[in-house]
Amino acid sequence: MIKEESVEKIIDESQQGSALAIENNAKNTRKLYIESYGCQMNFSDSEIVASILAKEGFNTTQILEDADLVLVNTCSIREKAEQTVRKRLEKFNAVKKTNPSMKVGVLGCMAERLKSKFLEEEKIVDMVVGPDAYKDLPNLIQEIDEGRNAVNVILSKDETYGDVAPVRLNTNGVSAFVSITRGCDNMCTFCVVPFTRGRERSRDPQSIIAEVNDLWERGFKEITLLGQNVDSYLWYGGGLKKDYEKASDMQKATSVNFAKLLELVAEAQPKMRIRFSTSNPQDMTLDVIESMAKYDNICKYIHLPVQSGSNRILKAMNRLHTREEYFELIDNIKKIIPDCAISQDMITGFPTETEEDHQDTLSLMEYVKYDFGFMFAYSERPGTLAERKMEDDVPEATKKRRLTEIINIQQKHSLYRTQEHVGKVEEVLIEGASKRSDTHWMGRNSQNTVVIFPKENYKVGEFVNVKINECTSATLLGEAVGYSKNN
Ligand code: SAH
Ligand code: F3S
Repeated sequence: MIKEESVEKIIDESQQGSALAIENNAKNTRKLYIESYGCQMNFSDSEIVASILAKEGFNTTQILEDADLVLVNTCSIREKAEQTVRKRLEKFNAVKKTNPSMKVGVLGCMAERLKSKFLEEEKIVDMVVGPDAYKDLPNLIQEIDEGRNAVNVILSKDETYGDVAPVRLNTNGVSAFVSITRGCDNMCTFCVVPFTRGRERSRDPQSIIAEVNDLWERGFKEITLLGQNVDSYLWYGGGLKKDYEKASDMQKATSVNFAKLLELVAEAQPKMRIRFSTSNPQDMTLDVIESMAKYDNICKYIHLPVQSGSNRILKAMNRLHTREEYFELIDNIKKIIPDCAISQDMITGFPTETEEDHQDTLSLMEYVKYDFGFMFAYSERPGTLAERKMEDDVPEATKKRRLTEIINIQQKHSLYRTQEHVGKVEEVLIEGASKRSDTHWMGRNSQNTVVIFPKENYKVGEFVNVKINECTSATLLGEAVGYSKNN
């Protein structure tokens, strides 16, 4: 049997890759090596950074030793993510010994969290740039070229990079990210993101649609609309989400929410597959689910993190919904879109979590039977409310044991869900060759499950109907029965 992905599907924070642009500009003479860690937003931001730097004479390279400028786009979500970056900086330091003119810049959430302290803590670093300051990179690079250190970690109330056309990095030419909101106002007590990415703001729908149209023209077949909290998207002419109440009646009357944005995008490109991430249960409304049901090209998949099944823990996490409200949302999704896939994020060992709370998480999982999930042991983050007000009192061994238990139950549910596909014919968008077999394609169905099937004469980027014959807990195996109507 061919197995395409690890069964746990835990996000591996060490996943990283030196990114290469599809097209480099022959006139550019300097070399940029850029590496990204953490969430999809970081990978998308690196494409904005590469675009800004392409205008400054930089082409991307995948060879670290050749780089004039090394940028690392960092993640602060858990301590381990930060440790991974620090290890990479050691490697860059070793390379710098053979290439002394090489400059090193730190971007993203760690840059924002540590600010100029980074320069003291890590001598290798020349430049520290927060997530809202990438347009200042040309000036900052001039500073470091002249031998000074450079720092810009100012958070913005309106920067969305809506006017920057991203350079697509390491792309399969089939799927692309399109960011629609930045920042987060939710203030979950465990989470560092509101501090590192600032307050929530939405991007102009016109610029989103223009980007989607451009991607279609260039042959892309699938987009993922990205935001920390996409259901909270609200365009009323610009500005922070929290200032919406101050908007004029005219602005309010013409505002665009997430359900409306989904429809605008789905109609702009009726053959483009549309995905989105991440949905916060407290902000997901029925009209979003109804918009999904209305358009064939919006994929039937919702990433709906819950973090815990215990009402007491949800409250302590400042997740503004109960377990019962979450069940109601799940029931509504399944009622409106019966074959919709749902995935989770879970945290084990949040402060004060008891065995009973943990059992509540297990029983919630039993109710939902998620298609897949991303599960983590609680990691205390400096500056968060949980760090300031609560003791990290669940022993590491207990966190890990509970984590193993939820991973095991998820694996069982993943298999239960993949088995539901066996015997069906499903539309698959081909993304590339299977990692395990040269003679097979790998693609995904609407529910985001990986499908492997013999290549025959099909090509990357084509929509194919595949008869599903077998499955593992993470992968469907089948054979093509022809092109789908969308091809
Ligand atoms: N809304 C965001 C969530 C970002 S963090 C999004 O777009 O994905 C992704 C996941 O990391 C969270 O859902 C949570 O499960 C986990 N996480 C966040 N902070 C954490 C912490 N301090 N310890 C462990 N896991 C954490
Ligand atoms: Fe973090 Fe909660 Fe926002 S997990 S990104 S504060 S929705």
